[in-house]
Amino acid sequence: MTSSDDRINYLDYAATTPVRSEVLELMLPYFTEKFGNPSSLYSLAGEARYGLDEAREKVAAVLGARSSEIVFTGGGSESNNLAIKGSAMMKSSAAGHITTTAIEHHAVIHPVEQLEKLGYEATYVGVDSAGRIDPDEFAAAIRPDTFLASVMLVNNEVGTIQDVATIARRTREKSRQQGGEILIHTDAVQGAGKLSLNVDELGVDLLSLSGHKIYGPKGTGILYVRRGVELEPLIAGGGQERQRRSGTENVANIVGIGEALALAEAERLSSIERMRDLSDRLIAGVAERIRGSSFNGSHTHRVPEISNFSFPGVEGEPILLGLDFQGIAASSGSACSSASLEPSHVLMAMGVDPGLAVGSVRISMGRDTTETDIEDVLQALTDVVQQLETFPTAED
Ligand SMILES: Cc1ncc(COP(=O)(O)O)c(C=O)c1O
Repeated sequence: MTSSDDRINYLDYAATTPVRSEVLELMLPYFTEKFGNPSSLYSLAGEARYGLDEAREKVAAVLGARSSEIVFTGGGSESNNLAIKGSAMMKSSAAGHITTTAIEHHAVIHPVEQLEKLGYEATYVGVDSAGRIDPDEFAAAIRPDTFLASVMLVNNEVGTIQDVATIARRTREKSRQQGGEILIHTDAVQGAGKLSLNVDELGVDLLSLSGHKIYGPKGTGILYVRRGVELEPLIAGGGQERQRRSGTENVANIVGIGEALALAEAERLSSIERMRDLSDRLIAGVAERIRGSSFNGSHTHRVPEISNFSFPGVEGEPILLGLDFQGIAASSGSACSSASLEPSHVLMAMGVDPGLAVGSVRISMGRDTTETDIEDVLQALTDVVQQLETFPTAED
């Protein structure tokens, strides 16, 4: 988004994105003339059903899946909850083990913690200083009773990519050697439009996506469920979505997420070079202009859209307020936890000093980000950090 005087320089695309006009246009008729309930039998309902079917086929094509394997949900968080709790609830008693990582989004960590309270066990595998998981270390945590492994594809705070395919392969081998039976889930919410989501190449049984991260509507998600995998529904009722998620379908939003995902995939490869170039400028600019700053994440295994920096002796919140004053919207890690003053669990897992972790800023770029936007944020960040460094802190 260009930053003319009255326009906001939005650099928080990992938090959410605006709905694309092409997506909105497709959605609109489903609020009005095509308002039928897709479960009804008359032809008005048929239009809504056709919209649903078409969206499901678009999603399946992007994932290399069958349309019967696509479940529409109420968002990325719900998709993760359905994958995790839905697989746990298939067990006859609250027993068994989940392996996940220390850097997952809270929409994975919190449902796993809820299951721990019920008697399930969990291991949170750590990461290196770049936020990467070692596939062998992950596989080593698999036990004979591990029924679910969950690893995110792209981290939402630092943009680090995990080698999900290798992790999935090693994890399955380890489980098989021990006579176990395991499902592999990936939270791919931040990977859509950036990386291939082919479920066979990734080697996963369950994959979560969210609409509002890909220029689609909020409150809409997708869970891919491999054929043969059974999940206990979290929302029971009329049996929609092949008994996996009840409730009259949010047809307009589903039509929207289907189109948004198809567009994101179609444009994925053509946007990579531009994003890399902008990201290189940003990272080099911060290192050159802001003394003592550090880049959090991996230089080699990352999506260029998400960059995370720390500034010693300065807290994240005043930096964000300073940027906001200059018309720039950025974030201090995950939008969901930015209200808390706790240092980010992701940066802590990467071994970032807690003093530095509280001064972290995430800049996430999107389709409309320009070179000028990057130049503007570099200038503003340099000024704001400099000003804050000269102010005494409360402890001084
Ligand atoms: C990695 C990741 N997973 C899950 C979610 C939750 O998605 P939603 O906001 O659609 O519930 C987010 C959103 O911040 C995310 O970044």
